Parts: sequence; C-alpha cells; structure tokens
Amino acid sequence: MRLGRLFLAVLILGGASAAAFTALSWHRSDAPVSPPAAGSIPPALATEGARLVALGNCADCHTAPGGRPYAGGVAIQTPYGHLFSTNITPDTATGIGAWSLAAFTRAMRTGISRDGHHLYPAFPYPHYAALSEHEIAAIYAYLMTRKPISAAARDDDLAFPFNIRALVAVWNLLYWPATVPPPEDAGGHIAEGIAHCGACHTPRNQIGAERTESAYAGADVDGWHAPALGAASPAPIPWTEAELALYLSGGVAPHHGVAAGPMQAVTANLAFADPADLHAIAAYIAGIGGPADPVRQARATQTEAILSGTAPPPPRSGGPGAEIYAGACAICHQDGWHTLSQNLTPLALATSLSEASPRNALRVILEGRHPRESEAGPQMPGFANNLTAQQMVDVLAYLRTSIAGRPAWTDLAETVASMRREQEPQ
Ligand code: HEC
Ligand code: HEC
Ligand code: HEC
Repeated sequence: MRLGRLFLAVLILGGASAAAFTALSWHRSDAPVSPPAAGSIPPALATEGARLVALGNCADCHTAPGGRPYAGGVAIQTPYGHLFSTNITPDTATGIGAWSLAAFTRAMRTGISRDGHHLYPAFPYPHYAALSEHEIAAIYAYLMTRKPISAAARDDDLAFPFNIRALVAVWNLLYWPATVPPPEDAGGHIAEGIAHCGACHTPRNQIGAERTESAYAGADVDGWHAPALGAASPAPIPWTEAELALYLSGGVAPHHGVAAGPMQAVTANLAFADPADLHAIAAYIAGIGGPADPVRQARATQTEAILSGTAPPPPRSGGPGAEIYAGACAICHQDGWHTLSQNLTPLALATSLSEASPRNALRVILEGRHPRESEAGPQMPGFANNLTAQQMVDVLAYLRTSIAGRPAWTDLAETVASMRREQEPQ
C-alpha cells in the first residue's frame, strides 16, 4: 500500500534523523578536577589573560549590577526571552572551579559546558573560536586566580522551542564557526575573535546568527542601535584610525562624542586592554569597506567648513522644537555647533542624529548620559519625566533638521511612543 510505504519511509527517516540529532547534540561530560593549586599558575600568564578578558568584555556579561565580579546572573535579553549568564569564578560547586583547561577550551571554542550541555550563542563562542590555545590558557589562568564566589545559576525563561538546549546543535551545524573568518592581521584577529565587535554591530538573521554578508552594517541591540562601522558608518565625519583608538580606550572621541548604552560598558572594559591591541583594532575597523564614498567625503568637508566658521550652519526652523531646545538644552549644547566646554562634542557631529533611526538620540534624551561609577566625565540629565511624548518628538525633529541638517525622520512619533512604553516599569 502506497500510504503504508510512505508511513514506513517517514518513520525510518524520522528515526534516522532523531538518531543523527542525538549523536550531534550529545557530548561527553568532562570529569570534574580540583582547581589548580595557588602558585601553580604563572603570574605572567594570568596578566596576559587579564588583557584578553578586558578585550572580551567578560566582566560586563558576567557581573550583575551591584553583584560580585564574574559571579554571573546577568539577564541577557533575547528576542525569545531571558537567558542568564553563569558564574565563571573558580568556585567548585557553582562556578568553573572544577573545570579542567580542556573543558574550558571546549566551552570557549564550541559552546559546550563541562557536563556536556549546549550553551546558547548569546555567549559569543562563535567569535571566541578564533582564539589560540595559548590565549585560552591565559584567560583560564586569569579566571582561576579570581576569588571563588558561591552563586548558583538562575533559571532561564526562554520560549519553546528555544528552551531546548540540544537544538543549539543544529544551529552550530549551520553557523558555527562561520562567523569567524580568520583575518591575517592582528587587529582582525582581535576584533573578530576575543573582542567580538560584530556580535553587536552585524545584523542577525531570524534565528540569531550574524549575517556575515552584511558584516558591520549596524544592528539593534538591547534597545539601542549599534551603528554601521567602516565605510558605511553614518557618522558626519568619517572615523579615523586615531579617533577610533581614542574612543575605544577612553570612550570619547573629539569628532564623535561619548560612548553610550552597551558601548559604554564595552569601552569601560577596553580601558584595561593593551593600548597596542586597541590600535590594532582601530586600524582594522577604520579599513572596513575601504574609504568613505564621495558623498560622505563631501558632507564631511562641508561639516568641517561649518565648524571652522567658513560656511553657514543649516537654516533653523522655529516652532515648539526650537523653544524646547532653547529652554532645556541650549544651556549645555549651545547652538549645536559650538560648545562652551571642550568635553562636549557639538551635537551636529553626533552619529545618533545622522542615523536612519532616531532610537539612540531618543535613548540619550530619555535616560541622559551618566559616567559609570568611579569614572569622571560629562553628564546629561534624563528627560523621561520632564518632557511629554509630543515634546520629545518636537525636539528630536528640531535636532535632526535644524542642527544636523538632515531630512526629517518619518518614524519619530511611533519610535517615541514605543520606546516610552518600553521604559515604563513592568
Ligand atoms: C554577551 C555576553 C557574554 C560575554 C561577552 C561573555 N559571556 Fe560567558 N556566557 C554568557 C552567557 C549568557 C552564558 C550562559 C549561556 C547558557 O547558559 O547557555 C555564558 C557562559 C559562559 C561559560 C560557561 C559556563 C558554564 O557553567 O557552563 C563560560 C566558561 C564563559 N561564559 C566564559 C566567558 C569568558 C571567559 C568571557 C570573556 C572572554 C565571556 N564568557 C564573555 C554571556 C557572555
Ligand atoms: C555589546 C554590544 C557591543 C559590542 C560588543 C561592541 N559595540 Fe560598538 N556600539 C554598540 C552600540 C549599541 C553603539 C551605539 C551607542 C553609542 O554610540 O555609544 C556602539 C557604538 C560604537 C561606535 C560609535 C559609532 C558612531 O559612529 O558613533 C564605534 C566606533 C564602535 N561602537 C566600535 C566598536 C568596536 C570596534 C567594537 C569591538 C571592539 C565594538 N564596538 C563592540 C554596541 C556594541
Ligand atoms: C547639563 C548639560 C546638558 C543638558 C541640559 C542637555 N544635555 Fe544633551 N548631552 C550632554 C552631555 C554631557 C552629553 C554627552 C557628551 C557628548 O556626547 O559629547 C550629551 C549628549 C546628548 C546627545 C547624544 C549625542 C551623541 O553623541 O549621540 C543628544 C541627542 C542630546 N544630548 C540631546 C539633548 C537634548 C535634546 C537636550 C534638551 C532636552 C539636552 N541634550 C540637554 C549634556 C547636556
């Protein structure tokens, strides 16, 4: 009978793929070991590890706000629910104290935990796969010399079917390690590997894999937009290698302003990295896609001319946006092209006002801009409680057209409405 045969075929195929799937998703558990004895780890190796850990932003994802270093528990927002980072201190019961170097290397390269379960690629192992054995040993040495902290992992709340960890095996088959084209130069090795810049700046497909054909084209992350880097950058004045190096190490660049949102955490960690490594990254990023196209070059020349006073700034509109600006913003931002303090970049140079989406500019207006704990730096108060949605729309429209001199944003009202909703306490 045809139907019977078909049924049998489906059954055999199904059975075969289930067996293949089990084989694919099953990984042996690596036996627990005792943590390396104090004194057995060469200090120079741990110091090298510290630099790599700063480049890898490990502290940011593995330290909860107000929590203890590397003890995990940070909620990572994904389109499918929350996932919590784990404890990577050398505590034997709740951290990685019982992990051998081999188990750690397997996790860093292939995203498989010591006991054999799959880790989600929110942990950027597809990038860390580019690390050398020596680099991974250095990171291990650094982590094993941290203070052990007892902190059990929190339960994730991912939606079905994303809560089935074994499915990551299929994801790996499709995408790992496709995100890591190993570039020859030092900067590429760092940026694509340990520093995983593309994890935020490269758009992802529907199941969360980076679209390598659109590398560094810009992507949404945690309610912010990580702008395109390289030739496609929307920054009014193209980034140079020198400004990138300054920005990565100190979170601020004279022609671009300060790092905000998730990038503020990245630069805070990079401040502990080796300056030579940051220069290498800067050289690599500055070169992505070649030089800026003639349209951008012309715009940059025009912008420089306005800054130096040899060309007039864009014409200004009046209306409610101009009034709000004069009353609430001009005290610090002046006319948007000049500032009283050298610490403040003219608003006209802000990438956030030249981007296709008003998201980042709105985020700063809602939340303000505050230096991180124990850090000095310019401050801006948040206006979430002081401006109505309509006033935000008006002032953003003014910033965009009259200060940045760009065509009006068409999605302003919707973006303001949706972001104000996101900001409301749940
Ligand atoms: C973008 C956030 C992010 C960054 C950056 C990050 N991690 Fe993680 N890491 C996670 C998350 C989330 C998990 C848990 C994944 C899961 O449960 O599937 C994790 C898990 C791990 C694990 C597995 C632990 C276990 O118990 O299975 C190790 C080891 C680890 N990370 C080490 C590191 C190191 C070392 C760095 C820096 C080089 C780093 N991580 C950077 C988010 C991050
Ligand atoms: C955790 C996500 C994340 C990671 C990792 C990350 N970035 Fe960013 N980056 C962002 C976001 C979001 C912004 C936009 C906010 C801002 O401008 O400060 C940004 C802004 C920037 C800017 C400013 C762009 C402009 O024109 O204003 C540069 C340059 C940059 N990132 C470079 C890098 C480099 C180089 C790396 C790797 C070393 C990196 N980023 C890693 C999220 C990230
Ligand atoms: C107390 C001073 C102060 C006031 C008042 C203030 N700002 Fe700011 N603003 C800052 C500082 C400081 C920064 C961050 C420094 C930088 O980007 O160079 C900033 C950054 C910004 C940015 C982000 C620029 C970028 O690089 O992406 C926007 C947009 C902005 N302000 C808009 C406003 C608007 C709109 C108002 C009024 C509603 C306002 N600011 C009021 C101090 C202020």
